[in-house]
Amino acid sequence: MSFGEPLIRRMEINDLDEILEVEKNCFNVPWTRHMFEDELYNLNAYYYVIKVNGKIVGYVGFWKIIDEAHITNVAIHSDYRRSGYGRALINALLNKARELGIIAATLEVRVSNLAAISLYESFGFISSGVRRGYYSDNNEDALIMWLKL
Ligand SMILES: CC(C)(COP(=O)(O)OP(=O)(O)OC[C@H]1O[C@@H](n2cnc3c(N)ncnc32)[C@H](O)[C@@H]1OP(=O)(O)O)[C@@H](O)C(=O)NCCC(=O)NCCS
Repeated sequence: MSFGEPLIRRMEINDLDEILEVEKNCFNVPWTRHMFEDELYNLNAYYYVIKVNGKIVGYVGFWKIIDEAHITNVAIHSDYRRSGYGRALINALLNKARELGIIAATLEVRVSNLAAISLYESFGFISSGVRRGYYSDNNEDALIMWLKL
């Protein structure tokens, strides 16, 4: 199926109903409204949504920590995957990071999450280590990935 041209913009508090739908669709342990509210009030946090035909289908976020971008999450609703929206969000995030003078981006990803790992690798992210048992729901290891900007 092909969709309309996506729009990417900063996440707003009024987006949270739609964001929570995406979140529940994407994760076994979804973030709560309260957690997103905290992110939106954090002056060092940058969150973006992607809208397709007027509907929010995904989001991405990072924290600016000194001169690094720590990517907190990326999610695309399952009905809209493999259409380039995840890539578009990461691209927007990296552009913002460069604009802020950030020199490197990092994230953690489940070792089993081949879709996300392959998305990050397509931007040049490189695995630099493992955090053992990082995910408390199933004790899964996290791959730590870095990209120099
Ligand atoms: C990971 C995720 C964000 C990718 O979003 P997406 O919009 O489907 O990704 P894109 O269409 O932009 O794909 C870009 C590239 O990533 C890779 N990729 C994406 N999904 C893939 C899959 N299922 N298998 C293998 N590679 C995949 C491919 O290289 C792809 O390029 P291609 O389509 O030209 O082959 C999405 O699968 C998702 O939301 N998953 C659930 C939440 C999650 O795991 N988030 C990451 C937490 S760290």
